[in-house]
Amino acid sequence: MDLGTVAWPPAPITTERLVLRESEARDRAALIELFASPEVGTYIGGARPRDELERAVPEIPGRRPGFFVIELDAAVIGVVTLDRRDPERLGRVLPQGGEAELGYLLLPSAWGHGYAAEAAAAALAWFARTVPGEPVVLTTQTANGSSMRVAAKLGFTEVSRFEQYGAEQWFGAWSPQALAAR
Ligand SMILES: CC(C)(COP(=O)(O)OP(=O)(O)OC[C@H]1O[C@@H](n2cnc3c(N)ncnc32)[C@H](O)[C@@H]1OP(=O)(O)O)[C@@H](O)C(=O)NCCC(=O)NCCS
Repeated sequence: MDLGTVAWPPAPITTERLVLRESEARDRAALIELFASPEVGTYIGGARPRDELERAVPEIPGRRPGFFVIELDAAVIGVVTLDRRDPERLGRVLPQGGEAELGYLLLPSAWGHGYAAEAAAAALAWFARTVPGEPVVLTTQTANGSSMRVAAKLGFTEVSRFEQYGAEQWFGAWSPQALAAR
């Protein structure tokens, strides 16, 4: 589910080291690389077979509001995404569900430099400007240490934990107000 009616795409967003922008046809190979990586897939349900991805990924992948490609020195290193959460899923902070949910995936060669936190903070700032006052949620396996650490660095706080897909899931929330009060 995408973010529906938000103004999209924004102008590319520049951080200290990175650029966040909408996806383009030239990103397809890097994104297939990302989704086919067994390391990337470890805590998110596994990698997808490369031949399946070659068939299924559209010419311009990830073309929806809230899907940002992350560039470092003009090369794609991953994605940061904001999507409407399926209200049927476990965990909620709005009475009707359907919260915006943050996701971040980087190619393993780019791990360990703080890029995920830097990119996700910029995506959250964009979201707070675009949809003022709305919370953002995040689900990650508690076993996914680096993802848990990124969530904490961004200011997400725990709402609940639950078992799903054979693993313990951490469900956290972020709001611009909570961040300002920290
Ligand atoms: C999760 C992910 C995006 C993190 O990217 P990253 O750029 O390496 O993250 P950062 O460098 O911003 O931060 C990583 C932090 O986790 C810490 N960390 C790394 N491995 C860890 C582990 N096993 N346990 C606890 N903390 C760990 C690092 O020390 C760092 O913390 P610090 O900044 O306080 O030193 C990346 O590992 C990834 O793409 N993983 C696969 C996809 C995925 O699981 N995404 C999350 C889906 S919810």
